[in-house]
Amino acid sequence: MSSLEVLSVASEVYPLVKTGGLADVAGALPAALRQEGITVRTLVPGYPAVLDALDVPERLHEFGDLFGGEARLLAARAAGLDLVVLDAPHLYARRGSPYLAPDGRDWPDNAQRFAALGYAAARIGSGLLPGLVPDVVHAHDWQAGLTPAYLRFGGMARPRTVATIHNIAFQGVFPAGLLASLGLPSESFTIDGVEYHGQISYLKAGLQFADRITTVSPTYALEIQTREGGMGLDGLLRTRSHVVSGILNGIDETVWDPARDEHLASPFDAQSLDRRAANKAALRARLGLAQDPRTLLFGVVSRLSGQKGLDLLLEALPVLREFGAQLALLGSGDPDLEASFRDAAAAHPGRIGAVFGFDETLAHQIQGGCDALLVPSRFEPCGLTQLCALRYGAVPVVARVGGLTDTIIDANEMALAAGVATGVQFAPVSTLMLAAALGRTAELWADQEAWRRMQRNGMMADVGWARPARHYAELYRGKT
Ligand code: ADP
Ligand code: GLC
Repeated sequence: MSSLEVLSVASEVYPLVKTGGLADVAGALPAALRQEGITVRTLVPGYPAVLDALDVPERLHEFGDLFGGEARLLAARAAGLDLVVLDAPHLYARRGSPYLAPDGRDWPDNAQRFAALGYAAARIGSGLLPGLVPDVVHAHDWQAGLTPAYLRFGGMARPRTVATIHNIAFQGVFPAGLLASLGLPSESFTIDGVEYHGQISYLKAGLQFADRITTVSPTYALEIQTREGGMGLDGLLRTRSHVVSGILNGIDETVWDPARDEHLASPFDAQSLDRRAANKAALRARLGLAQDPRTLLFGVVSRLSGQKGLDLLLEALPVLREFGAQLALLGSGDPDLEASFRDAAAAHPGRIGAVFGFDETLAHQIQGGCDALLVPSRFEPCGLTQLCALRYGAVPVVARVGGLTDTIIDANEMALAAGVATGVQFAPVSTLMLAAALGRTAELWADQEAWRRMQRNGMMADVGWARPARHYAELYRGKT
């Protein structure tokens, strides 16, 4: 097996900067690919949190002027990753979210911030750094979307390129007037180029010019080629469907390991599921929920956004309470949803507990302590929390969309009889069907022996990165 060099280009990477699953993927895939003989370097913006983590960075290159200021490329190892950091203080020296200003809106210069990322990636891809010339450049989401466009129009030597869609809802669309200042020629501004309804779309640029397009589950790969799921890009994706594929995400099994999880009061494995009870009790104590081992405890760990369908859960809360169940929710995002869950928790103390913000520890405690994890998403490219739930013996209750379809085996009669069920799916995604799924979960909970079986099935499911990494390796090597 010949070795291969990949430059992965991402706007967030766990554990340095994370707003969602993209960071988890960018952070975990390189180690899994190493097993496949593939060396990955990850190009990330030099946010303060990234620069703080670098020990002795090596200066690789200086850009005299990169979109309005000096910038440099640094090489360093941090958190087990080989990083190339784009240090451009005028673009990235801002604490907090990588995308949003303190007022909660996008940074006004996001067009320049992520054009710089794509431009640097393209330059590295075409041999800027001797000794670090990748065979493949892998651009994640819209933030890295211009990479293949710069390679296409820059007259540069071209490595193979892969663009991965983690979420087609975020497309990076900016005013057409920026074209020249972004260093893109006018001939790029066509329907077969970066133009999108009179504007510039970074994601479209990536999808148009990458050699291969992937997304993060087989079902989502089909959904985005439909009018309903493509969010305006389905036509392009249908035209290029011969290069589109879906590779399921995994989770980092060292970060998500219930037997060695320091966030848990009581680590456990499939042979010691009884130890979960102590985690459930600790979680209830933390959220002020009444203690009763027989009561079914649902958990949620999620961004609060329309995508995640939690407004449906709000509407279904009376049903959840009717079944005598409890809810432990951790969420961050939309202020209106947050206010509604805060009100619900205040109205039902002991039954509904909610914590707002980004809290890694509590995320682990919910996975290790709740009985069933709810993911009622309207669309879900892959979803990682249901994979964590499988590994932690929390039975996933999920909408039958995207990667949730591909990762959970519904407890229908046949699956139960065959002993292979791992969770509950519902469709279509509506309050009514979610309520029905809550009822079905309560019925399953009533048979504790069958419930245990589902937990164990889930814990045995292969949710690691080894299998998906093999698919990426084949893709990089041009074998699929
Ligand atoms: P998305 O990327 O769409 O938000 P995923 O399920 O792919 O959804 O990934 C979400 C990741 O972020 C998971 O690792 C999950 O544990 C984590 N996460 C989501 N919300 C929170 C939160 N409020 N606090 C801590 N971790 C969170
Ligand atoms: C996006 C999607 C999520 C996916 C993650 C990682 O944030 O919303 O479904 O798991 O990217 O690929």
